[in-house]
Amino acid sequence: MDLKKLIDGEELNIPKHVAIIMDGNGRWAKKRLMPRNVGHKAGARVVEQMCEDAYNLGIKYLTVYAFSTENWKRSVEEVTGIMNLLRNYLKDCIERASKNNMRVRVIGDRTALAPDIVDRINELERKTKDYDGLQFTIALNYGGRDELRRAVVCLAKDVKAGLISPDDISEDMISDKLDTFDLPDPDLMIRTSGEYRLSNYLIWQLAYTEFYFTDVLWPDFTVEHLKEAIRYFNGRERRYGGVK
Ligand code: FPP
Repeated sequence: MDLKKLIDGEELNIPKHVAIIMDGNGRWAKKRLMPRNVGHKAGARVVEQMCEDAYNLGIKYLTVYAFSTENWKRSVEEVTGIMNLLRNYLKDCIERASKNNMRVRVIGDRTALAPDIVDRINELERKTKDYDGLQFTIALNYGGRDELRRAVVCLAKDVKAGLISPDDISEDMISDKLDTFDLPDPDLMIRTSGEYRLSNYLIWQLAYTEFYFTDVLWPDFTVEHLKEAIRYFNGRERRYGGVK
């Protein structure tokens, strides 16, 4: 059962889990004749604000796409800039998370990340694991196909070890091997900046999710835009393949 909340005088169902593709940082910077990394920096500040706003609206789970397995193709300068931004973010986040009772997790393949970033992720996850406020997840070096590939490798090893038989593999067993094994599937997916693609984001988990697209560039995204997305979500009738 969805949480209901009065928002600007209107009673609305609040999606439990919102997943966001934060797109448009580069264009935001370009419009201002500034380097792309200035856009990412502005985007990172919006992430911090969004964690507070989402939780105040009653959203329990928020998952953001910070860096995809394909983003390594960008210039060295841009990749270094984003990684440095994440380094600082992960460091500062520990204090903010304990203040806001926020649990932080990171999904994606960590093997390609710098060791100091992996250390910071581990520390952040360890220190926030018991917080029951916003359950915030950062997708970092994440790709939906890569996540499924890794799950298949795990299941293949279980088969080889004689723990399971191939015919017994169920959807739940696949879900349990994904990085998101302990998260509910998203109810609402938001993509900013006018692009209508999934870009390899949570491809298994978004099977029944409502999608909301907006032309707003991520650094300009505010709580008012989030409320607009929630109002859109309330106008949709979710049938999960059935008939109502
Ligand atoms: C997409 O915009 C954005 C990214 C690939 C990076 C997102 C990263 C952040 C918002 C900052 C760090 C994140 C956290 C969790 C602190 P784009 O560069 O593709 O924009 P464009 O399409 O306009 O070029």
